Amino acid sequence: MKKLLDLLSEGFEKAFVECGYEEKYGKVTISNRPDLCEFQCNGAMAAAKAYKKAPFVIAGEVVEKMQGNDAFEEITAVNPGFINLKVSKSFIASFVKDMSLDELLGCELNENPKTIVVDYGGPNVAKPLHVGHLRPAIIGETLKRLYRFKGDNVIGDVHLGDWGMPIGLIIEELRTRKPELVYFAEGFTEDMTETEAPFTIAELEEIYPTASAKSKEDEEFRNRAEQNTFELQNGNVAYRALWKHILNVSVTDLKENYKKLNVEFDLWKGESDAYEFVDEMVEKMIADGFAYESQGAMVVDVSEEGDTKEIPPCIVKKSNGASLYSTTDLATLVQRERDYHPDEVVYVVDKRQDMHFTQVFRTAKKTGIVPESTKLTYRGFGTMNGKDGKPFKTRDGGVMRLENLIGNICDAVYEKIKEGREVSDDEARKTSQIVGLAALKYGDLSNQASKDYIFDIDRFASFEGNTGPYILYTIVRIKSILNKFYDSKMDVATQDMNKDAGEAEKALMLEVAKFNAVIDNAYEESAPHKLCAYIYDLSNAFNKFYHETSIMGEEDEIKQSGYINLINTVKSILETSIYILGFDAPEKM
Ligand code: ARG
Repeated sequence: MKKLLDLLSEGFEKAFVECGYEEKYGKVTISNRPDLCEFQCNGAMAAAKAYKKAPFVIAGEVVEKMQGNDAFEEITAVNPGFINLKVSKSFIASFVKDMSLDELLGCELNENPKTIVVDYGGPNVAKPLHVGHLRPAIIGETLKRLYRFKGDNVIGDVHLGDWGMPIGLIIEELRTRKPELVYFAEGFTEDMTETEAPFTIAELEEIYPTASAKSKEDEEFRNRAEQNTFELQNGNVAYRALWKHILNVSVTDLKENYKKLNVEFDLWKGESDAYEFVDEMVEKMIADGFAYESQGAMVVDVSEEGDTKEIPPCIVKKSNGASLYSTTDLATLVQRERDYHPDEVVYVVDKRQDMHFTQVFRTAKKTGIVPESTKLTYRGFGTMNGKDGKPFKTRDGGVMRLENLIGNICDAVYEKIKEGREVSDDEARKTSQIVGLAALKYGDLSNQASKDYIFDIDRFASFEGNTGPYILYTIVRIKSILNKFYDSKMDVATQDMNKDAGEAEKALMLEVAKFNAVIDNAYEESAPHKLCAYIYDLSNAFNKFYHETSIMGEEDEIKQSGYINLINTVKSILETSIYILGFDAPEKM
């Protein structure tokens, strides 16, 4: 469906042309003086300059031409040359009705769907998910759903950190603790692999930090771990077998945790999957004259004219022949290009990795790993801070596990649900899981992703204000009205919206009518916070209408049907939006 503003502009564009001015002056925008009008057209101001005429004269001519246009109930030229507008009730009612009957609520699929790989999540095996993993998961999942909603072919890839030094460290620590393991026996062959992993997830999560701490003090330990990593990457069967165990145990646990976050990946590929592409890739870079040796390492120059800061060369191989973070990211692009030939690859990663991605993207383009036309996008996000403005920590200053963080916010919601309400513990617990997740996700997504924000449980979990629970509360309220209505009546009398809407009803319709424009804007700018801001406004408009209107008490059946159709549409928009934002609404709250 066309967007409301475009439809409204059409009439004015025609009028401007008929009065002898250029079409472009006919743009209608949302009013910045809602006390005076709903929309405005300021084209006469700009046309005045071009045509050397008084703006008020031009505005007057256009207004004259617009007389009888039934999209508007008020078209007024005001000094010095603005045109103030109010849309007619029948026009907005019919626009909203069309939306309500449209499968996509007035939104349109991209004419040329893109293939987009979204690289998000980025957890590392053998390490528990912590608060640092919250943002990439939440934001990435939403972008994936948003692109899909617009019809793109989207592939979400978790891009596991499963190949580097951590694995070498774990192997070394295991050797110290359990030297008797078959994997450390002389002459180990693959068929000696045991089905059972020699550790649980809990052990693994303790082994890694211990080994990591040790490596900082004990140089020999570190060297051995480095050697392990090198051997693992070069085909040591015993280490490969151990690595597979680490991977299995970790991934099972990670999947459960992401599921709790309502986050789902299409691909569970990792850095290790890129390894098979590395040698050929680097050789080609050398043969093509892009990579050269510098202090023993292989590097590609990526600085460009006009750089405002120094962009150091991208190292593609260390002097000992080992791969680096940039190597795996480049080789992963080789694999993605081969498998999907994507139009765009979007990386949802902490904004502190800016330099890394600048180097990787430039290298990929320069060396021809991806064609010039492929968009490589880095969506660096800001830090989640505590109330002290510093990166969020546990009370004793440690890194908080993600499951504890989720637990805390669900507990806060649970308390709110129990406050002054008669609900069973069981039900309150269940509801608090759903609402808690919404509180957390909305609290995050309602901020512009690139900015830091403060994690504030009390604010996020509040049922009032710009919060996830408030949005859910609105949905639940609508559902309960609809249930009451359908319990007493079989169906609505008509599919129409009311053509003589009251003030709050019209304001709600005007809010509803923005949906397709908001979706397109959020999509084009990859900006979930714009969708959040919109559903907050929409919820406010609904609640105002609700407080001023007796929906169930309305005796005029046609009018009542109009109310029901309108709030049904509000519900659909809110439900579609929270689906995109990655959370659900409960039945009751
Ligand atoms: N595992 C990485 C980290 O913990 C994040 C990976 C992000 N994705 C990527 N393609 N580099 O920092």
